[in-house]
Amino acid sequence: MGKFRIGLIGLGGMVQAHIRQAAESGQVEFVAVSDVNADALATVGDQLGITADKRYGDFVQLIEDPDVDAVVSVTPNDVHADVVRACLQARKPFMAEKPFTRVFEEAIPLLELYKQHPVPAMIGFSYRYTPAFRYAQELVREGKIGAVRSFSLQYLQGWGAAPYTHPYVWRFNKDITGTGTLGDLGSHMIDMARFLFGEFQELSAQLHTIIPERLDPVTGKMVKIEVDDFASFQARMTGDVMGIFQTTRNAVGSGNQHEVSIYGDNGTIHASTLEPNQLVWIREEDPGQLARTTLEVPKRCEVSQWSDFLAMLEGCSPDGLPGLIDGYRNQEVLDAIVRASYTKTVIRL
Ligand SMILES: NC(=O)c1ccc[n+]([C@@H]2O[C@H](COP(=O)([O-])OP(=O)(O)OC[C@H]3O[C@@H](n4cnc5c(N)ncnc54)[C@H](O)[C@@H]3O)[C@@H](O)[C@H]2O)c1
Repeated sequence: MGKFRIGLIGLGGMVQAHIRQAAESGQVEFVAVSDVNADALATVGDQLGITADKRYGDFVQLIEDPDVDAVVSVTPNDVHADVVRACLQARKPFMAEKPFTRVFEEAIPLLELYKQHPVPAMIGFSYRYTPAFRYAQELVREGKIGAVRSFSLQYLQGWGAAPYTHPYVWRFNKDITGTGTLGDLGSHMIDMARFLFGEFQELSAQLHTIIPERLDPVTGKMVKIEVDDFASFQARMTGDVMGIFQTTRNAVGSGNQHEVSIYGDNGTIHASTLEPNQLVWIREEDPGQLARTTLEVPKRCEVSQWSDFLAMLEGCSPDGLPGLIDGYRNQEVLDAIVRASYTKTVIRL
């Protein structure tokens, strides 16, 4: 079989991670690019050797291009719904970045359209491909720590914290993002909880804005921040597994720290992006004697997001691939968290 001909939409920071992974597969040819920013279009177009007629300002033209087999979209959050809708309408397979949409209302008609015209679709919940998290799922499923009773998940970054005086960018703009750190990092935690434990049953939450205004480098003025930069929530999952969650981009010293601790009747598992190829397993070996073992993650858990994406394009259904329904459910939970925080009530899902 020839290479997959892929079109890329949104040529900023994250697209380079996709380009790297695609190159590792050796099965991808990038044939078209799209961005509203002419500099980004020129830079990434040159990087990938894209001809001038395949550099699109309008992503709909890329999606409708018959030379493009599938689309990968890495735009800011406000564009995701339009890209997904256009892909579904054009029957074009795609991978779209998370969060799936800004708000749940945008996700509802997309699910309806998908039911009418299903196409191979993947949402960029990339942490399903962190080997330690995949291994944790395997160990939980095989009962390594007995019945799971509770867990804690946290996702911490530091770049938004006060000492760095990070300027106002789209990630702080509610109209573009929907929510702040919640949709940005929290969507990954929600997906990880669903990946490991099943569905959310009920939850309560608190959102908070730590830094109330930031300097807009374009206008030189301070802008009021209307999205959270701290989110905490607690949830009852399928089977009464209880979870607590925290996320912030204001944790000084945290680069990209996404981690889970899982507590079962017979032991505990700790897994973290800081040590993506190992996890810690704790159990009581003899009465009163705790054994703590660092387990190396087996090779079978080293699956790349792009190898699953390409398998999906070939017609396979890789186990655990995050699909459109995962994006929809994620948005449903994000919406419940916002409502729970706003109304200070417990929300049932
Ligand atoms: N899965 C992950 O681990 C992960 C990591 C980082 C970012 N992301 C997601 O990726 C997306 C992009 O993040 P980023 O950090 O690359 O952002 P970015 O701002 O660096 O890049 C976004 C690019 O999209 C372009 N763009 C904006 N509107 C467009 C439109 N209508 N058509 C075409 N291009 C358009 C911008 O000009 C820019 O070049 C976000 O949704 C983010 O949540 C996911």
